[in-house]
Amino acid sequence: MASMHLRVNNIWRELRSAEGMPVLDVIRGELGLTSTKEGCREGDCGACAVLVGEHEGDTVRYRAVPSCLLALGELRGKHLLTLEGLVEGAENGLTPVMRAFLDENASQCGFCTPGFIIALTSWLAEPQVPDLAGALRAVDGNLCRCTGYGAIRRAAARLVGRFEDLPLEPSARLRALIEAQVLPPSALEFTAESAERPEEDSAPRKILKRAAARGGNTDNAIPAAVVGGGTDYYVRNPEPEEGFSPFLTRMLSEFGQIQYVSDQEGSWLEVGAAVTVRDFFASPAVRHEVPGIDRFETMFASTLIRNLATVGGNIVNASPVADVTSMLLALGARLVIVNEADSRNPDAPQRRCPLERFFLGYKKLDLAAGEVLKAVRIPAFADPTSRRFSFEKASKRRNLDIAAVNTAIAFRVDGGRFRDVRVSLGGVAPVPLLCAAAMKTLEGAPCGPDGKTLAGLAQDAARTAESSVSPISDVRGSSDYRRRMVHRLMLAHFVRLFEGSGIAEELFP
Ligand SMILES: Cc1cc2nc3c(=O)[nH]c(=O)nc-3n(C[C@H](O)[C@H](O)[C@H](O)COP(=O)(O)OP(=O)(O)OC[C@H]3O[C@@H](n4cnc5c(N)ncnc54)[C@H](O)[C@@H]3O)c2cc1C
Ligand code: FES
Ligand code: FES
Repeated sequence: MASMHLRVNNIWRELRSAEGMPVLDVIRGELGLTSTKEGCREGDCGACAVLVGEHEGDTVRYRAVPSCLLALGELRGKHLLTLEGLVEGAENGLTPVMRAFLDENASQCGFCTPGFIIALTSWLAEPQVPDLAGALRAVDGNLCRCTGYGAIRRAAARLVGRFEDLPLEPSARLRALIEAQVLPPSALEFTAESAERPEEDSAPRKILKRAAARGGNTDNAIPAAVVGGGTDYYVRNPEPEEGFSPFLTRMLSEFGQIQYVSDQEGSWLEVGAAVTVRDFFASPAVRHEVPGIDRFETMFASTLIRNLATVGGNIVNASPVADVTSMLLALGARLVIVNEADSRNPDAPQRRCPLERFFLGYKKLDLAAGEVLKAVRIPAFADPTSRRFSFEKASKRRNLDIAAVNTAIAFRVDGGRFRDVRVSLGGVAPVPLLCAAAMKTLEGAPCGPDGKTLAGLAQDAARTAESSVSPISDVRGSSDYRRRMVHRLMLAHFVRLFEGSGIAEELFP
């Protein structure tokens, strides 16, 4: 079996495991580094978090991800840091994050602690001014079952106090963190080494291999698969077959860009299928095109999951309650689909498909064998400030939960009227869908002038939306609950979008 040459902590390692093996198993098995813990193996607990360093400009960006859902092949050309690597060279074997935990008694049995340390180290590495809200967001995917969160919160607060003056410029910040022993010297070595190394390019070989497999190469008994972030794939397939070597979309730079493009149908903001959910919401271009979209980021999973999950994976996974898909439906997105073997060829034929036509039935897609989703396009507006957008979701838990129902709405206000209205609904049918009835109610309706008129319109849209669906009952909610939620979430869109108009008082006196 081919081996992989990877930077693990402060040394380069030759690994025998296949590229599709979850990193958690490689770390604990082949590498024997046992500080990384296995808890849920479903992305829910954060005990398995590791830091992955990736080249960005002239520096390296470190982000925490759950190693139970991460394919080993994702680490090509990157730096894997586990707790064993973090403590290299640290005074008394403790980094300042660990010291804060010790000083606040924030660890009891210690099983969850490595994951918290990794997540908070990742948060400190991000070029932002540290505050407590940010620190707590960084650990929203980490569970502790015995210490209690009070002590962990105090440890986080200590770090905020200690590191509020970190430089914001990424290279300077990295150096400052190494000096403060938050990150080990190997982070600096990796920055220097990777700047000198020619980029390892495994992607074309992989594509050819898989294309051959689909062409009927019966020697290849291992099923071919496409993996984005793996946050759905590995939950469904926690123990892949030996030798599993998927097509990793995140290893193709062509799938990871956000750029403006135009064609005969207009101008678009094109988001690569392999862009992570985190980078989607952080993108200045996405924020420019869809003002206010960033406020909905934390309604999706946890920081750890968002660091790994891709936009394309959210669509192709075809969950009826996929959150980014629901947003993109309301935004009028179109898909760019290519043949896998042509993935890197910019001149190869591409197929375009409106997102709403991509879903043919439950988990049934307009995607032929050998096709992959390369990008998704959002219509670009001449004046994006005219675009109004809202997203709502009802789930049992605030963080880390899949919706029972979700919905998004997008429209323009033109001449005091609603124009180009699109309303999506998730969790009410086998596929995510557009709510034609609510769209018809709103299209061309006067957008004001006061809270009372808007409240009447909101009620009309909510009633129409509710009566247009016949959801099933399942573990996330009964049919009746889902219909009621459609009603309430439609009203919530209006309250959010017309804040200050008096609509909230009219609807909920
Ligand atoms: C703890 C946890 C919480 C979650 N919370 C949420 C949530 O709040 N909201 C939500 O919407 N989702 C949530 N999810 C689900 C998941 O994170 C998202 O659906 C995510 O966007 C999937 O992206 P991925 O890149 O990880 O997909 P993957 O797991 O890599 O792939 C998903 C499917 O799509 C296929 N695929 C991926 N990319 C492509 C491509 N470019 N072309 C063709 N096929 C492709 C794969 O073969 C696979 O079948 C959660 C998951 C976990 C584990
Ligand atoms: S083991 Fe729980 S998130 Fe990976
Ligand atoms: S310290 Fe025991 S689970 Fe957190």
